[in-house]
Amino acid sequence: MLLGIETTCDETGAGIVELCPDKKFGQRLKIRANVLASQIPLHAPYFGVVPELASRAHLENIHRVVAAAFKQSGLAPLHAIAYAQGPGLKGALLVGESVARALALALDIPAIGVHHLEAHLCSVLFEYPEVRPPFLGLIVSGGHTDLIYVERWGKYRVLGRTLDDACGEAFDKFSKMLRLGYPGGPIVDRLARSGDAGKIRFPRPLLEGSWNFSFSGLKTSALYRLRDYGQPKTARARADLAAAFQEAVCETLVFKSKKALRNFNLKTMVVSGGAAANSRLRELLLKSAVNEGFRVYFPSPAICTDNGAMIAAAGALRLAVGALLKGGAVEHAVPCARQSRKAVLCEDTGHGAVDPSLPFPSW
Ligand code: KG4
Ligand code: ZN
Repeated sequence: MLLGIETTCDETGAGIVELCPDKKFGQRLKIRANVLASQIPLHAPYFGVVPELASRAHLENIHRVVAAAFKQSGLAPLHAIAYAQGPGLKGALLVGESVARALALALDIPAIGVHHLEAHLCSVLFEYPEVRPPFLGLIVSGGHTDLIYVERWGKYRVLGRTLDDACGEAFDKFSKMLRLGYPGGPIVDRLARSGDAGKIRFPRPLLEGSWNFSFSGLKTSALYRLRDYGQPKTARARADLAAAFQEAVCETLVFKSKKALRNFNLKTMVVSGGAAANSRLRELLLKSAVNEGFRVYFPSPAICTDNGAMIAAAGALRLAVGALLKGGAVEHAVPCARQSRKAVLCEDTGHGAVDPSLPFPSW
């Protein structure tokens, strides 16, 4: 049983996961509790996350969120505590790490610092335990747009990432331009359903010859359109604009993903992060999967967005590989060897015994 604590950005999350016997897979990870205190109302007036407000809110919420997770899990005894070590907002990360390490110290169990993006990848395992590397990971959130070649659990190659705005951030900024609200992704997604994506054509920032993404040009293009034509006058015109913007973002993501699948001869893809909830992105990728013969897995929206259970899953993985992320930490609370505080998503060091009671060893 592992507790996972998430405080990288604007969600205070605590999740408890258990390794359960499973007829088909031997063992699988199950969520016993997943509690979230969202800060959306706090940041909404600013149309984006205000780091200092986020840290303070984490501090105010973390204890009741962890307590609620314990209660929800039936007060199960814990074997380890995982916390998101990064990347994220410094002050926010500090809150999660302090609580995780203090609890681990008190309970005399290991505290495990995990990489937030590895946790997003692991989140697929709750609903789809059949997923096996190698696969292509696409993480799309408010802070990340990362295309990752997952050779095996613990061994990752970041093929490309955004050079400027993250995909979710682009939705948020576009929504701010139209004064639609925060977070922009779900609002634009909903609005776009009644719009015609073909009425306006925004550029597709493809960056030929690179796996990287760039969304700031697209955002500027939307800004120039509003400058030249003004705010849309009708609900219909607003929906068309939202649909066109969404189509440009999604087509870019799908184009690069399909190219990477072909290039690296991969047949499986996992999409996670808040923007993986986008209905058009799901539709386009699912259609491509059928037409081009690959499998695409999307965790359900509540698991795609930041949450504590995915951090616990990554903690289970780190325990299983028995190794440290370069610069990461798996440390016993007492005595506590200091390690680098920087989380780096990279190949694990490969040493240490694999705990056979965890579901990862054969992966
Ligand atoms: O993963 P997440 O909860 O937090 C970060 O790590 O950033 O992602 C939040 C982001 C926000 O930018 C939000 O606008 C975006 O995910 N998002 C969406 C949708 N739902 C959330 N973007 C596009 N379509 C959606 N349906
Ligand atoms: Zn995230």
